[in-house]
Amino acid sequence: MKIILRTLRQRFVQLWLFCFLPLALGATQPPVIPLPASYSLGEGCFGLQKPIGVLGPDSDKGALTQMVVNLFAESGYHAFATDGRILGGQTLRLSYLTEFDSLIGNEGYHLHIGSSEIRILANSNAGLQYAINTLGQLLRAAANDCLSAWSITDYPRFSYRGMHLDVSRHFMPVAFIFRYLDLLAMHRMNTFHWHLVDDQGWRLQIDRYPLLTEVGAWREDRSHEHWNHRPLSSPEAPKTYGGFYTKDEVRQVVAYAQARNITVIPEIEMPAHVMSALAAYPGLSCTGKNLGVPPGGVWPITHIYCAGKEETFEFLENVLLEVMELFPSPLIHIGGDEADKTEWKSCELCQARMAAENLPDVHALQSYFIRRIGAFLASHGRRLMGWDEILEGGLAENAIVMSWRGEEGGIQAARMQHHVVMTPGSHCYFDHYQGDPSTEPLAIGGFTPLDKVYAYEPEPAELTPEEKTYIIGAQANVWTEYMPVPAHVEYMVLPRMAALSEVLWSPAQSRNWESFVRRLPHLIRNYEAHGYNYARSAWKVQATEEVLPEARQIKVSLTTLLPVDSIVFRTEGKGSGNSPQVYRNPLMIGQSTKLQAYAVVNGTSTPVVERNYHIHKAFGLQVEQQPTPSKRYPGTAYSLTDGIEGSRWFADGRWSGILDDHWQASLSFGKATRVKQIGLTALHDPASWIFLPDSLVVYVSKNGRTFRPAGHLKSVPSTNTNEVSTHRFVLYPAPGRYKAIRIGAFRTADIPATHPGHGEKVWMFFSEITAD
Ligand code: ACM
Ligand code: ZN
Repeated sequence: MKIILRTLRQRFVQLWLFCFLPLALGATQPPVIPLPASYSLGEGCFGLQKPIGVLGPDSDKGALTQMVVNLFAESGYHAFATDGRILGGQTLRLSYLTEFDSLIGNEGYHLHIGSSEIRILANSNAGLQYAINTLGQLLRAAANDCLSAWSITDYPRFSYRGMHLDVSRHFMPVAFIFRYLDLLAMHRMNTFHWHLVDDQGWRLQIDRYPLLTEVGAWREDRSHEHWNHRPLSSPEAPKTYGGFYTKDEVRQVVAYAQARNITVIPEIEMPAHVMSALAAYPGLSCTGKNLGVPPGGVWPITHIYCAGKEETFEFLENVLLEVMELFPSPLIHIGGDEADKTEWKSCELCQARMAAENLPDVHALQSYFIRRIGAFLASHGRRLMGWDEILEGGLAENAIVMSWRGEEGGIQAARMQHHVVMTPGSHCYFDHYQGDPSTEPLAIGGFTPLDKVYAYEPEPAELTPEEKTYIIGAQANVWTEYMPVPAHVEYMVLPRMAALSEVLWSPAQSRNWESFVRRLPHLIRNYEAHGYNYARSAWKVQATEEVLPEARQIKVSLTTLLPVDSIVFRTEGKGSGNSPQVYRNPLMIGQSTKLQAYAVVNGTSTPVVERNYHIHKAFGLQVEQQPTPSKRYPGTAYSLTDGIEGSRWFADGRWSGILDDHWQASLSFGKATRVKQIGLTALHDPASWIFLPDSLVVYVSKNGRTFRPAGHLKSVPSTNTNEVSTHRFVLYPAPGRYKAIRIGAFRTADIPATHPGHGEKVWMFFSEITAD
């Protein structure tokens, strides 16, 4: 009986939810990001028109009280510090719990808003600050001078909530570091991973080794060139570009962070990504060569610290002693990523080390290197953290793994009972594009829009509950090769940081994109109030196409990730030019058409997105490819005949990537078809190791079985440039009716000697095959 009753009750609840969910979610969730762990809305509200007396904890010397007073002032309300003797009127009390509340832990809080009193309780200063953060968001969203009567109990899901910043590829002034920390605090991130060392600049003053900053912090300014096409500098070239942080500045940064519950983890890269250090102290490499501080990208990274020399370890230990003196963080990041061990293989000292230590290969030598540094850090009470390459050849005792090459390294480490921070490139690399690359500033590649970040789940499903406890959190990485100035960094991290903050703070089961989207405008207003340069990418129009081969049509849907007032489009086709219209339903494109679309948000238009649809005789046909494209760049079922050329962005999903020197594509029309011209689009993007074919041959078949050559293009246009470009090759077969066609593409010429891919396999990328 009982059971039946429960079932009925659940049914009722489900039914009720079904009817009212959208309304209920909107009405009963506090307009706060990240969404609190638990909350309820009481009757009435706290009036904001009368002055508000703020009473802080005695131990705090008024800092928190002042924070609250400022918060009310920002929203146009009057609050003042009181010592509690003035009773009556509107009051806000902040206090520490007398007994530790283990539910809310070290960072959680309770916040109760009544009609005349706001009460904030926490175990820690961090908890009180996070409560103030929530209060600030409620205040900004308050209507009618009245603060809704929320009761909130809140605490984070993960203890490690990180943001990284690379200040080597581009030096960021210390004033921006403070601003960045403000952003971290605004999003309840409690860890700042400061990437202070890389090939292109050493950014930290080290007293014992002054050349690290005198030499290593400066490089030749080759900003006018693409990052990946800047040659190594000559010794004579003036080294004018760079900068570094003095120890005083670092202490200020650490203190500023500490006051905001943020731990600063310094990253001192080793054994690779250290050409800046080797420019200062060339003797620390295997070869002793001085290659200078590279002004741009270097790949592969072969010039690294020698693992055979004792001087290397003496140097690194001395550096780390000064680092530990500056940074109280229990974790010290030592990099460990992307070391090409070529120099180690031919270095007598490295080989001698391997023999002496019984190390079977260079991976074991890297592991020896990292373990030795890990033991040194441990002897000073610190723990080593490193990129997932530190797993190779064996993991140092107690080391924390930062999993960046996907989640594999993190999964492996968690199973070995090592703590893990997840930073997979797929979801956590904020140097990736966040919108259609044709309308975004140049980025390194990848595609990580806001909803993808929001969908990230740091605990891999394949781990057991016990193994999952080793995943302590996640972090977004901000590599700055393509972010020369602070405003650009802001653009790349906002609003994606908001999405990540909810992933890391809020209970997994409360994650809901629609709810997030409803709460986001309040946070955006806060960005605007503080003049942050946030990206508008999520309001831009996205065109999504579906190929309907039978109907010979493309169904085009126009959407935006975040709500907009309207989407406007116009089309231009054969003999018709249409005036702009408001988009309502998907467009059915049945003939070659140019489409332009933009969104309108608060009276402002977003950048125009443009598409050219080409409905041709091969449209929607299946293509047989030999070899089949790489699994990494497979294209889609119809990407070679979907009527859409690939963009200048190799990872847009429309390109078939071939890591071979020949490729053949065949398609059949099904019946004899008159063909006058045959086209193929290919991509030229040397920085991504993608080159055009050197020659193309077209074959035609009248019976669908036997083919004969019908035309051939040799030496396609000059590609003596590093600019990314798409090329459409066109061949004209003898006029006739054909049942099938075939295209062969070949790469025969060498990759230029100046390109790092010289002598290696490179890519060919193809998108549309056309027949007209
Ligand atoms: C990395 O992105 N090389 C850690
Ligand atoms: Zn060596």
